[in-house]
Amino acid sequence: MAEIDFHAHILPGCDHGSSGIETSLRQIALAKAAGVDVICATSHFYGHQIGTEAFLDKRARCWLALREHLKEDDPRILLGAEVLAFEGIERLPQLEALCLEGTDLLLLEMPFAHWSERLIDSVEALSERKDLHIVLAHVDRYDRQQIEMLFSFDRVKGQINVSSLKRRFLGGYLREWMREGQIVAVGSDIHGTDTGYSLWQRAKRRYPAEWNAVMQETGKRLSKLL
Ligand SMILES: [Fe+2]
Repeated sequence: MAEIDFHAHILPGCDHGSSGIETSLRQIALAKAAGVDVICATSHFYGHQIGTEAFLDKRARCWLALREHLKEDDPRILLGAEVLAFEGIERLPQLEALCLEGTDLLLLEMPFAHWSERLIDSVEALSERKDLHIVLAHVDRYDRQQIEMLFSFDRVKGQINVSSLKRRFLGGYLREWMREGQIVAVGSDIHGTDTGYSLWQRAKRRYPAEWNAVMQETGKRLSKLL
């Protein structure tokens, strides 16, 4: 079974996750040492700062700069985005181009501030699009009831950060979500060379059944690419 890091900030200079090639290569070495086979490079996309096309151009340049330094046995890198939700996002041109490459999976980050009714309506409108599947970024960082409300929409699932799995006693609902298939991906959410990958192995050892269930779900969704 492939180990897939669904959420990582490893493209040099694309966002604040990596300041340059050296940091990116160190991040990739840490991922490899942790047993990661595939890294989804999900650079931040902030629609109020940059247009979709400009973002994709920038991401392509960062990827080209990194690619020539990679070795054959390095983890495979797939290009994606962590898209910050905003009111009216359903009208963003070319939103589907922000899905993880080769898939219809959109990693959507909810704001940490109050969610307005209009914002929730926008997420619901996205969930009604048959050409997308939403994966909510780091659902472990929000209020349980609010996330469960979004899970009640069609085609909305969640991704959990590995940092939330370091706890010996995992919040009962996170475990339930993992077992029930609400959580379909795990992410290091690595920025710089912080703890993302040192926690990877620990989390896997601590919750093997839940971990495997989630990795299987991710693998199913990426099966055409692996
Ligand atoms: Fe992130």
